[in-house]
Amino acid sequence: MALLLLSLLLLCARSPEPAMAGDPFAYFDWEASYQSARPLGVAQKVIAINGQFPGPPLNVTTNWNVVVNVRNALDEPLLLTWHGIQHRKTPWQDGVAGTNCPIPAGWNWTYRFQVKDQVGSFFYSPSAAPLHRAAGGYGGIVVNNRDVIPIPFPFPDGDLTLFIGDWYVKSHKDLRRSLDAGAPLGPPDGVLINGLGPYRYNDTLVPPAISYERINVEPGRTYRLRVHNVGVSTSLNFRIQGHSLLLVETEGSYTSQQNYSNMDIHVGQSYSFLVTMDQNASTDYYVVASARFVADPDKLTGVAILHYSNSQGPASGPLPAAPDDQYDTAFSINQARSIRWNVTASGARPNPQGSFHYGDITVTDVYLLQSRPPELIDGQLRSTINGISYIAPSTPLILAQLFNVPGVFKLDFPNHPMNRLPKVDTSVINGTYKGFMEIIFQNNATTVQSYHLDGYAFFVVGMDYGLWTDNSRGTYNKWDGVARSTIQVFPGAWTAVLVFLDNAGIWNLRVENLDSWYMGQELYISVVNPEEDHSDKTPLPLPDNTIFCGALSSLQKEQSHRFQYSGASRVGKTVSAAMISTTWLAATWLLYR
Ligand SMILES: *[C@@H]1O[C@H](CO)[C@@H](O)[C@H](O)[C@H]1NC(C)=O
Ligand SMILES: *[C@@H]1O[C@H](CO)[C@@H](O)[C@H](O)[C@H]1NC(C)=O
Ligand SMILES: *[C@@H]1O[C@H](CO)[C@@H](O)[C@H](O)[C@H]1NC(C)=O
Ligand SMILES: *[C@@H]1O[C@H](CO)[C@@H](O)[C@H](O)[C@H]1NC(C)=O
Ligand SMILES: *[C@@H]1O[C@H](CO)[C@@H](O)[C@H](O)[C@H]1NC(C)=O
Ligand SMILES: *[C@@H]1O[C@H](CO)[C@@H](O)[C@H](O)[C@H]1NC(C)=O
Ligand SMILES: *[C@@H]1O[C@H](CO)[C@@H](O)[C@H](O)[C@H]1NC(C)=O
Ligand SMILES: *[C@@H]1O[C@H](CO)[C@@H](O)[C@H](O)[C@H]1NC(C)=O
Repeated sequence: MALLLLSLLLLCARSPEPAMAGDPFAYFDWEASYQSARPLGVAQKVIAINGQFPGPPLNVTTNWNVVVNVRNALDEPLLLTWHGIQHRKTPWQDGVAGTNCPIPAGWNWTYRFQVKDQVGSFFYSPSAAPLHRAAGGYGGIVVNNRDVIPIPFPFPDGDLTLFIGDWYVKSHKDLRRSLDAGAPLGPPDGVLINGLGPYRYNDTLVPPAISYERINVEPGRTYRLRVHNVGVSTSLNFRIQGHSLLLVETEGSYTSQQNYSNMDIHVGQSYSFLVTMDQNASTDYYVVASARFVADPDKLTGVAILHYSNSQGPASGPLPAAPDDQYDTAFSINQARSIRWNVTASGARPNPQGSFHYGDITVTDVYLLQSRPPELIDGQLRSTINGISYIAPSTPLILAQLFNVPGVFKLDFPNHPMNRLPKVDTSVINGTYKGFMEIIFQNNATTVQSYHLDGYAFFVVGMDYGLWTDNSRGTYNKWDGVARSTIQVFPGAWTAVLVFLDNAGIWNLRVENLDSWYMGQELYISVVNPEEDHSDKTPLPLPDNTIFCGALSSLQKEQSHRFQYSGASRVGKTVSAAMISTTWLAATWLLYR
């Protein structure tokens, strides 16, 4: 019965029209280039978008069509990926090596995708090479709800985005060389907030002449703060002196609203907090992001300033205290478990989020994915999942699948850790379209890792220490586990998620810790819509601007390089159906013929 109800709901939820038509378009012209900056007082090259670091926001509304023309003015191939955006029907807009040929240096390429049935806080970041993000290139994505659908809290007086992340003064190329030489990255040099170094809260710890972020607010107002950990590999604790953080959303799901005095935000994760400016303005206040589970967090602390318009003076006193548990993840794991889905709140659609009763659905596939500390494979330091270290082929998987290029990848990823020597391979999970997959991440490495799945949000149903066993299912949250796309796995512990594979494509599952990602800790899940269910045209035909590479290079036309850099973005509400069809449907090939 529940299943029948669910199917009905899904039928209603997935409207049959091939989208796009009628929905507004938002256009962005972006140029990615190096820019010099000194966030920690040392001059270095960062990746800026339209001269900004962090990059400009992508601020759109549910169901809008987003068109982003990206010019690559770097000296390396570039892609941007849209963290948490699901790219329904257009998996080739995902911007990772398995879905797109990279944009060569000096070329431009236009992403076109619809932010279908999503609301919330996400971010974009460079992704052709994992370590690009260590140089910046990131920015916020805000997907607003349609006016007719209420948000589950009073409309905030302001909307602010904060990027927090660990930072190295070495360039991304030097970091890459270090890993290539088999040397771990070592501790970062600091923590940035919005691309800026720490406020000088202590003369010994912070050198002079560092620019810091100042957040200007009005007393008595309530702001929505969207906080993203865009760093390399460090979990951070976020807090604001004298203010509580009311958690309301994470990665596209409204949470049960709860106050926190601080929140652990792991690499790649996004949270929205409501913060009320309810303190007196005798001083400014510290905004802090400090490293978790490290020996000397003082050296790895980002500090910004919260400044009331009627503030009487600078922030003072010690920084608000971090949880006092350097080598104990118990506080953190309990905090993670306390984050719940608000099942009665509406998400992108008027019906409650919780009308998708994930706990009632029968699991069709189980994957136990185990990681180990990095190890030598053929003399190279590599990270693995189930003993396999991913190697990206020169032909993106999705193009190889569409054009039947043989030998690029194998659909043979093992569903449990294999008792054999680790190897380097291009092995992909064969997902079942509209199957319900249970994935258990088992972390046998020594640091916190976060896993991110493209194309989907998964339900976080369990997290605990030790080895996962069948009995662990008894502890699963089958009711209000939050749906999100990035989840942490503590060392010596496991995290279990459930995901409904209704989005056809080939989707990247990776660790967000950039060093481990670079060393091969990722895989792809292939989800093929069988021919008989092609009624809803998923996916759409390949766009006509597709870049070809690898075995398909001969299909690539020369680019004329006549891109005019304007640095502007605009929103157009009316685009004719004719224009849409020429832009979108000019491709020659269909996925299933
Ligand atoms: C997004 O744009 C809307 C206007 O379209 C504006 O009201 C809102 O403040 C913007 N949000 C952010 C986060 O910039
Ligand atoms: C859940 O959402 C409902 C509906 O918007 C809202 O009224 C309620 O306050 C929310 N509950 C919590 C605990 O956040
Ligand atoms: C600054 O930090 C140093 C090193 O941790 C510490 O010894 C000193 O007490 C701090 N100074 C102040 C004013 O807090
Ligand atoms: C959160 O804390 C604020 C005070 O900062 C309080 O007004 C509010 O009622 C609290 N909300 C919840 C859901 O506990
Ligand atoms: C403002 O708050 C500070 C710290 O809580 C307190 O010491 C001070 O007396 C307060 N000032 C006023 C004017 O309320
Ligand atoms: C992948 O799974 C589909 C069913 O979902 C099956 O028909 C196909 O044979 C599988 N492919 C391989 C290579 O195992
Ligand atoms: C990794 O696995 C080994 C062997 O099962 C075990 O001894 C070790 O404690 C595990 N370490 C972690 C961090 O899980
Ligand atoms: C490159 O940019 C130009 C506009 O400057 C645009 O007409 C062209 O379609 C873009 N190329 C691709 C492949 O998107």
